[in-house]
Amino acid sequence: MQTVTRIAELRATLSAWRAQGLRIGFVPTMGNLHAGHMSLLAAARYRADRVVASVFVNPLQFGPNEDFDRYPRTPEEDAQLLQGAQCDLLFLPSVEEMYPQGRDQATRVHVRGLSETLCGRVRPGHFEGVATVVAKLFGIVQADVAVFGEKDFQQLTIIQRMTQDLSIPVEVVGAATVRAPDGLAMSSRNRYLTEAERAVAPRLHAALMTAVKRIDTGERDYESIEAQGQAWLLEAGMRPDYFAVRDALTLQAPGPASRELVVLAAARLGKARLIDNLRATRR
Ligand code: PAF
Repeated sequence: MQTVTRIAELRATLSAWRAQGLRIGFVPTMGNLHAGHMSLLAAARYRADRVVASVFVNPLQFGPNEDFDRYPRTPEEDAQLLQGAQCDLLFLPSVEEMYPQGRDQATRVHVRGLSETLCGRVRPGHFEGVATVVAKLFGIVQADVAVFGEKDFQQLTIIQRMTQDLSIPVEVVGAATVRAPDGLAMSSRNRYLTEAERAVAPRLHAALMTAVKRIDTGERDYESIEAQGQAWLLEAGMRPDYFAVRDALTLQAPGPASRELVVLAAARLGKARLIDNLRATRR
């Protein structure tokens, strides 16, 4: 695996691959890689001849009181895992390489309508930071296919919309959430959990499953489903940001024509903020 820190170096390797007609897959990450990321790599590998991964903790997507400084950074372990997952090229840029005008002067991408709700309501500016860095990475790598985790369902939806709206020629693929045997979705932020909190954390997934079961049996009282989910998270000692049933395409409350639904939840537990979601189909 080749590791590069500069955009120009990355482009030199990529243009040689393109000249050979090779299909390029891309997995953007913030590092501290785990089994969830490895599944994204495998999905990219399956769809492309060469796989590029980026590791960049993007300051634009962290709020002033969030965990940018303490976000886990494990570059040596990440490089080893990527090598083992047959990644061909690791892009490891500095903040200056990505935002040469400084983070406050960087051109921003804002995906209206999808960015303000759910996590966007409690993390203002977060999705603008995500859309901006992903648009920039897409411009740098110019991959044929890029893979993102479905665990971050709102992020995936925003990136798909941005790609369509800006006519960026990349296929955006969602990969299924990887879970621990007890249901907890893999996340770099799980390492903030104490042992006692880790034992409670799977209740988020359990609450989502119960909500999906209620929808699957034909129930349409989404307010009651949301209230039950919120109550369960509170009972488990979590501080829920939201527990919401939404249309999977628009992320708005389901309308009469909504068929594909998603139940999404975010909750704080100790120092961690857990997010997860499950899809449901309305009968
Ligand atoms: O999901 C993440 O790890 C990040 O939000 C992403 C997509 C790499 C952008 O920084």
